[in-house]
Amino acid sequence: MSEYPYVIRLSADYSIKPFDCGNADLNEFLFKDAVEHAKELLAVTYLFEEEDCTKAYFSVLNDSVRRLDADSVNLFKKKLLHDIPHKKRSYHSYPAVKIGRFAVHKDFHNNNIGTELMDYIKRIFLDSDIAGCRFITVDSYGDSVGFYLKNGFDFL
Ligand SMILES: CC(C)(COP(=O)(O)OP(=O)(O)OC[C@H]1O[C@@H](n2cnc3c(N)ncnc32)[C@H](O)[C@@H]1OP(=O)(O)O)[C@@H](O)C(=O)NCCC(=O)NCCS
Repeated sequence: MSEYPYVIRLSADYSIKPFDCGNADLNEFLFKDAVEHAKELLAVTYLFEEEDCTKAYFSVLNDSVRRLDADSVNLFKKKLLHDIPHKKRSYHSYPAVKIGRFAVHKDFHNNNIGTELMDYIKRIFLDSDIAGCRFITVDSYGDSVGFYLKNGFDFL
């Protein structure tokens, strides 16, 4: 994969190439719900393709991390505020982007594609100055928690 993976933003008339990540809900979302979510401004989906299949996709939406979301104020301070300037530590919430869905075709699992796409998402949202975005959030499926921990995520 090149340093900047070429991803396509899913649009209504786009013909999605075959995809199977091994999880029926995530497969169904791509083929049945992703376009509708984009139309309703609920989430935007991006595709990473091979000539004859979809290798991976992810969908993203705006989010915020609130003090109330953390288990305790101390945890919040320790994990999330340590590198925020003192004056800005009293905010009630901080801007974030949520990864709503994230999946790699099962034929390509454990080939680093997930990690490279995750790096791409981090660069696009955290390094971009189009809108403030301090954090990336995800509601992880139980069996993929290890993947997110390896990619720098932590429990809130
Ligand atoms: C989870 C998923 C996205 C990972 O993508 P991937 O391209 O296979 O991951 P990578 O090859 O980049 O893996 C990077 C590391 O995470 C680990 N990893 C991958 N999937 C994992 C999992 N389900 N649980 C624990 N660790 C995992 C790999 O072993 C690897 O570790 P290493 O660097 O020590 O070898 C992919 O397996 C997938 O699409 N699964 C089905 C759908 C799913 O569960 N999506 C997440 C929804 S929240």
